[in-house]
Amino acid sequence: MFHPWKKQKLMFMGSLNMLRLLFLATVLGITAANDIKALYWLEQPLFPPSAINTSLFTHVYYAFLAPNNATYQLHLSNTTAAALATFTATFPPTVAALISIGGATTNATLFAAIASNAAARATFINSTIAVARAFGFHGVDLDWEFPRTASQMSDMGKLFAEWRAAISAEAAATGRKPLLLTAAVYFAVDYFVSETTSLRYPVGSMNDNLDWVNVMSYDLKGPWSNRTGPPAGLFDPKSNGSVGFGLRSWIQGGVSPNKVVMGLPLYGRTWQLRDPNVHGIGAPVVGPGPGLDGAMALFQVLEFNNQTGASIVYDKETASVYSYSGSYWVGYDDSVTVAVKVGFAQALSLRGYFFWAAGLDTDDWKISTQALNSWMFCINANGGVN
Ligand SMILES: *[C@@H]1O[C@H](CO)[C@@H](O)[C@H](O)[C@H]1NC(C)=O
Ligand SMILES: *[C@@H]1O[C@H](CO)[C@@H](O)[C@H](O)[C@H]1NC(C)=O
Ligand SMILES: *[C@@H]1O[C@H](CO)[C@@H](O)[C@H](O)[C@H]1NC(C)=O
Ligand SMILES: *[C@@H]1O[C@H](CO)[C@@H](O)[C@H](O)[C@H]1NC(C)=O
Ligand SMILES: *[C@@H]1O[C@H](CO)[C@@H](O)[C@H](O)[C@H]1NC(C)=O
Ligand SMILES: *[C@@H]1O[C@H](CO)[C@@H](O)[C@H](O)[C@H]1NC(C)=O
Ligand SMILES: *[C@@H]1O[C@H](CO)[C@@H](O)[C@H](O)[C@H]1NC(C)=O
Ligand SMILES: *[C@@H]1O[C@H](CO)[C@@H](O)[C@H](O)[C@H]1NC(C)=O
Repeated sequence: MFHPWKKQKLMFMGSLNMLRLLFLATVLGITAANDIKALYWLEQPLFPPSAINTSLFTHVYYAFLAPNNATYQLHLSNTTAAALATFTATFPPTVAALISIGGATTNATLFAAIASNAAARATFINSTIAVARAFGFHGVDLDWEFPRTASQMSDMGKLFAEWRAAISAEAAATGRKPLLLTAAVYFAVDYFVSETTSLRYPVGSMNDNLDWVNVMSYDLKGPWSNRTGPPAGLFDPKSNGSVGFGLRSWIQGGVSPNKVVMGLPLYGRTWQLRDPNVHGIGAPVVGPGPGLDGAMALFQVLEFNNQTGASIVYDKETASVYSYSGSYWVGYDDSVTVAVKVGFAQALSLRGYFFWAAGLDTDDWKISTQALNSWMFCINANGGVN
């Protein structure tokens, strides 16, 4: 068993001076306010934006809006307009709100149609800026899942360049701070269309025109896989399907580390084992386990562990955690793996992390708090505090 926790504690105790420095920096208001600690909030009645603990995050994303498929403008019903207004009114000035456009349920063909046509791009871009400003947002985010051809990738690059130009022009014309422009992207810089074919993202345009990318470093394994595996393992000795490989690929592909933000899932993936006695990583399964389509919120995973007396295992090779009870198997991230991942992200000099999604952490924000604390107590390559 591996206990990075112990290392963490040692580091914590050994850095009292760092703590003082951090305290001073905070008091003087010179803390590295540049780091990203973000959260996506999925439009849902059960978890209102007012329930978000705003001291844990720098940026909160409203997920999702979609363009209208005939006008290419962001479509807003009156209900949505009211929700947007409520959303931005909720947060203190320390938290920036962004609109995320797209998501897994938005038709990717629609984005392809918009990105391939100059007039459609202009209309779409114009409407995103207008809506963001009308409702007091600080930025916009594109979550196009996913461009599926080489020309769609290059059209996406054009879209980002024109979007940036429009944002700069609007800021110059109004004298306001430019809106932020970000994108949620695949776990690796090459989108795997099939086992043998991959497409590179338009990294040049992304690095030049985006403030940062939110790398969706999760869903690498799930009940769709025919074996158990870590949904968001930091390493994978057997394949390139790991968080570490993906994050490095973005940097090697040409996106500056300070524009790369690591995704952290606040949920687990579940499987039903073929044989309850074969319960390691790579164990054969018969299908999804408990939860909606084999997914459970982090707080539900902890309840499951408690109620079933599940065995909990830290797997050193993948830096991941899983639990099993009877024929059920759950792969997830807990305080320990999140602390390890945050350390890894800082070792790569990444800009920060984001969570998917609000409402899935424990009531007392256990995992989000762990990420915040782990990030703060780390020392960067220049000997400063991140
Ligand atoms: C919010 O998080 C902060 C920082 O961890 C913590 O001190 C505070 O108690 C939390 N508030 C709530 C309501 O959970
Ligand atoms: C646009 O969306 C509407 C409503 O979902 C649908 O009925 C229509 O077929 C779509 N049109 C196109 C061109 O995709
Ligand atoms: C939406 O709001 C506008 C402006 O307040 C109003 O004129 C319109 O009737 C509303 N539409 C619906 C469907 O409620
Ligand atoms: C997505 O949009 C395209 C073009 O508008 C349309 O042909 C296709 O039917 C849509 N797909 C779905 C699943 O709605
Ligand atoms: C969007 O288009 C409208 C109408 O052409 C124009 O008045 C407005 O300035 C444009 N907004 C931006 C941000 O480009
Ligand atoms: C699982 O899938 C892999 C690749 O698709 C295949 O090679 C393997 O035989 C499958 N294993 C089982 C137990 O179905
Ligand atoms: C992993 O990625 C590297 C570099 O992109 C590549 O050379 C290698 O073939 C990949 N390995 C597998 C198992 O796909
Ligand atoms: C575990 O379950 C017991 C009984 O159901 C409960 O009393 C306890 O608070 C739970 N512990 C945690 C950490 O959830």
